Amino acid sequence: MTSDSLPFVQGAEYLSHAAQTAISSQIKSQIEDVDQLIENVSGAIKLASSVSSSRELTQLPASSCASTLEIDSETKESWRDLGLEAIANNEVAVLLMAGGQGSRLGSSDPKGCYNVQLPSSKSLFQVQAEKIIKIQELAKQRYNKSELPTINWYIMTSKPTRHATESFFVSNKWFGLNSDQVTFFNQGTLPCFNLAGDKILLESENSVTNAPDGNGGLYKALLDNKILEDFQNKNIKHVHMYCVDNALVKVADPTFLGFAINKKFQIATKVVRKRDAKESVGLIVMDKANQKPCVIEYSEISEELANKTEPEDSSKLFLRAANIVNHYYSVDLLTQMVPKWSSSQQYLPFHIAKKKIASINEKGQFVKPSEPNGIKLEQFIFDVFPSVDLETFGCLEVERTEEFSPLKNADGAKNDTPTTARRDYMKLGTKWVKENGGIIQGDDLVEVSGLTSYNGEGLEFVKGKVYANGEQI
Ligand code: UD1
Repeated sequence: MTSDSLPFVQGAEYLSHAAQTAISSQIKSQIEDVDQLIENVSGAIKLASSVSSSRELTQLPASSCASTLEIDSETKESWRDLGLEAIANNEVAVLLMAGGQGSRLGSSDPKGCYNVQLPSSKSLFQVQAEKIIKIQELAKQRYNKSELPTINWYIMTSKPTRHATESFFVSNKWFGLNSDQVTFFNQGTLPCFNLAGDKILLESENSVTNAPDGNGGLYKALLDNKILEDFQNKNIKHVHMYCVDNALVKVADPTFLGFAINKKFQIATKVVRKRDAKESVGLIVMDKANQKPCVIEYSEISEELANKTEPEDSSKLFLRAANIVNHYYSVDLLTQMVPKWSSSQQYLPFHIAKKKIASINEKGQFVKPSEPNGIKLEQFIFDVFPSVDLETFGCLEVERTEEFSPLKNADGAKNDTPTTARRDYMKLGTKWVKENGGIIQGDDLVEVSGLTSYNGEGLEFVKGKVYANGEQI
């Protein structure tokens, strides 16, 4: 083999013949068409420099949106009932994306295992599992079922997070769930490239670099791991998808499910109001040219567009519907579209992230760079939103203090840290206790377990009782 046989691999000409053969077969087993992949990477690099300027983005029309802050309580109740009914009939699954590596948080454990130092020391996974247990019970009661319904929990991991995640569930006895209602599956991986996007990087003389393919890898993973078939076999009709790092996530939220079911949406999403122009959140918007729903990611929006305000009210950002990665999908839509979504760049283009990637350089030397030297490719879960018509896409605005407190950064950062996640979780529980007549001094905070209350209900027993700071209810 000559060096020319691997022109798309950085430093390949310095490898031994045997190493070149090994790398070549590795690449063949992983990538169907290398030329096509390189072309896609080059497309992604171009897209990165043009994305926000080439599209004219605007707000979704009012007909696609609703807000739990504004609708009347009967409507809210009727949506909640519809959602509970679907849960009671075993038609709901939850899909958790837990393949991210939490590099901003600075922890090597999967984010779901993270202990944000609640008085109970519960991890995010435990908080979420207990919400599932509670909402199953509430659905059973509401619809007088003789048996507890099952919400199947599908957890997407990646190579770096799989083992630790699964072991954590086993050692915590599935947090009280039945082990057979939890399914783990892995997302795929993609090789990393040099900054020009024309050469694959090697992590050693005999191994290609690999990184998880982004949360948009979900769709291919649903297909490859036969999860779609499982939905069919279990007669699951509705899926609530969410991301692991939100301490306030309402897993299998019946109100959100009922909103989507009632309006026959194929995809729906929850949003909160964007905190300020700089907040690291994607925005749910509409592409003016084709009138399709889409998301503009925080890494890709221009400063000008991020700062633009409402023409008649400069206190409000024009684009402010912040994506909190809580999406609803009808299983009918997934069945119809996932095979298409997972097979074409037309639906899920690559996005690029410039990173420091320990790898072999152009001179054949292994380096641990101090500056970004390469590109990781990622697909974004929401890039499929434009595949549905606006009439079948719904957006539900919810109250940030009740639904969104993400764990992104290590303590010391201003926002989205373990401290803010713990505080927001306890503030919400404390509010519920006070609303139910419990007595808590000044700024003290208590922790309400998900097993006690899903959303503030069932807390009549606290009336007149005094609770100390940090108490668990
Ligand atoms: C994400 C959203 C952003 C949103 C923000 C809210 C995407 C692409 N971006 O940004 O629009 O406003 O959350 O908090 O969805 N994950 C995987 N596999 C991967 C990469 C990520 O499963 O390869 C999972 C993570 O475990 C996490 C979720 O996807 O559950 C979001 O990933 P993260 O990288 O934290 O997204 P953000 O950049 O914060």
